[in-house]
Amino acid sequence: MSHTPPFAIITGASRGIGSAYARQLAEQGYNLLLVGRDHKRLDRITADLQSKYGGMVEKEYLDLTDSGAAQTLYARAMSLNHPVSILIHNAGFGLYGTFAETSHAKIMDMLHLHVLQITESTRLFLPDMVARGQAAIIIVSSLAGLFPIPYMAEYAATKTYLNTFFEALAQEMDGTGVTIQVCCPGFTDTDFHKTAGYRPRHVLCSQSPHQVATVSLNALKSRRTMVMIGWQGHLAYWMTRVLPRRLLMSLAARFVKPPSPLSPPPPTT
Ligand SMILES: NC(=O)c1ccc[n+]([C@@H]2O[C@H](COP(=O)([O-])OP(=O)(O)OC[C@H]3O[C@@H](n4cnc5c(N)ncnc54)[C@H](OP(=O)(O)O)[C@@H]3O)[C@@H](O)[C@H]2O)c1
Repeated sequence: MSHTPPFAIITGASRGIGSAYARQLAEQGYNLLLVGRDHKRLDRITADLQSKYGGMVEKEYLDLTDSGAAQTLYARAMSLNHPVSILIHNAGFGLYGTFAETSHAKIMDMLHLHVLQITESTRLFLPDMVARGQAAIIIVSSLAGLFPIPYMAEYAATKTYLNTFFEALAQEMDGTGVTIQVCCPGFTDTDFHKTAGYRPRHVLCSQSPHQVATVSLNALKSRRTMVMIGWQGHLAYWMTRVLPRRLLMSLAARFVKPPSPLSPPPPTT
């Protein structure tokens, strides 16, 4: 009897947390579809995983902020003719600074990537998963989605949407065989902060992308919905439940407030 390996799709697999998921799943014998925009990095990780583990590793260069990206991803996945075992919505980016000074285009990209595209592609993939009665969706959200964060207001709000939407969906999926996991990393050592133009001032302890992927994949066995990483993640989660919202916001603002406050334009002579 032929055995078909399980199949996982990972968005944002070219680096960071996404590439850690890809490595671990390839090691566990999964066939993969890796999604990202950076051709060089995606080519490198695809070739590396193929030569190390020998399974099917497909790639799709895709900007997930493009309109129609969710349909493109779904069509590409269907063309491979493998039922999807795990769909990992991981692609994301950060924005730091005051809302009034943040680029309008970047805010729209974030809303497309974190909210619209993830909602749309989940809606596309979910019916097949429910029909088969066996699959998982992991959403790489963030501790930042547990409360409002000044100077990261848009990022925190999009992650709050993911936390509440998928926590509710997890309950709807109860008894269907489809597991929904909301993975909430804290500060993780990736290019994320540099790309967002943020130089951290007070990082007490960071996590590795490998640790995030390991905890998240292990947690699929227990089918937990909300997954925190390490003791720092659990402590932060607990703090968001017991501390007043205003205190949480002012503590968080101290970590992320840009060095120079909004200043009026210099006088013209
Ligand atoms: N690092 C942290 O401290 C931290 C903490 C909590 C949550 N997270 C979350 O973890 C996830 C992964 O972040 P990371 O830390 O691994 O950051 P990263 O190293 O910067 O990786 C981000 C990934 O997302 C992909 N991506 C970004 N915009 C995209 C777009 N428009 N279309 C397609 N792919 C896109 C990038 O692909 P290309 O490079 O190919 O464009 C890259 O593979 C994000 O959702 C982030 O919000 C990170």
